[in-house]
Amino acid sequence: MRKKIIAGNWKMNKSYDEGMALVSELSNMVKDEYHGSAQVVIIPPALYINALSRMTADFSNISTGAQNCSNHVSGAYTGEISAAMVKSCGGKYIIIGHSERRQYFGETNDWLAKKIDAVLAENLNPIYCVGETLEEREGNTHFEVLKTQVSEGLFHLSAEQMASVVIAYEPVWAIGTGKTASTQQAQEVHAFIRNLVKEKYNETVADNLTIQYGGSVKADNAAELFAAPDIDGALVGGAALQSRSFADIVKAMA
Ligand code: 13P
Repeated sequence: MRKKIIAGNWKMNKSYDEGMALVSELSNMVKDEYHGSAQVVIIPPALYINALSRMTADFSNISTGAQNCSNHVSGAYTGEISAAMVKSCGGKYIIIGHSERRQYFGETNDWLAKKIDAVLAENLNPIYCVGETLEEREGNTHFEVLKTQVSEGLFHLSAEQMASVVIAYEPVWAIGTGKTASTQQAQEVHAFIRNLVKEKYNETVADNLTIQYGGSVKADNAAELFAAPDIDGALVGGAALQSRSFADIVKAMA
């Protein structure tokens, strides 16, 4: 059975002390309330990964990760962090190609393909984000856009490498807007992505692929989304900034 993953992307929010307090509360909540097999991934600003990895080391259902990394291994790249650095701080997952990185930092599919390689070279798990803008959905080009993002970012990988990849479908129009994709819209895209992977690789690779939904996921819409056959968890933004609301989303998976 494929892995279910609920990840909280804090983006550029929380002071160090606020982050420590949040995770201290959260780890106790998900321990008490969730007994299933879903993995909880905390994705704070990179500065906090080390401390949070240590804090959650005894919780087998909690991991940490980074919001981005360089495609380079090391060297004169001021301000960048490498996948190896994330790993050395205890991180297991790295978000690659979040729409905010694509939009504000000019990250292209070609560039992201190299970042994916950098993550896999450290035996970490990339969470590769794809998603269409409102204009693309209204123009009915979203399937084409998603196909290009998935194939250019990932389809140079071997089937074995694909086993470490998580895909997050995050429609740009649903991020931070309070406007979630309907379960039907999300399920349709998830099934489409899984089918692309099946055509490129095989049925086993496609069946084992975790595809998260992201975009205004809240405790009150999570259970319905998670009940869809191809939705294997969530990449949560705003609702991950409070322990209670994030724990309730984790609970919705159980
Ligand atoms: P929101 O949950 O705030 O819409 O953010 C989603 C997101 O971008 C997670 O990566």
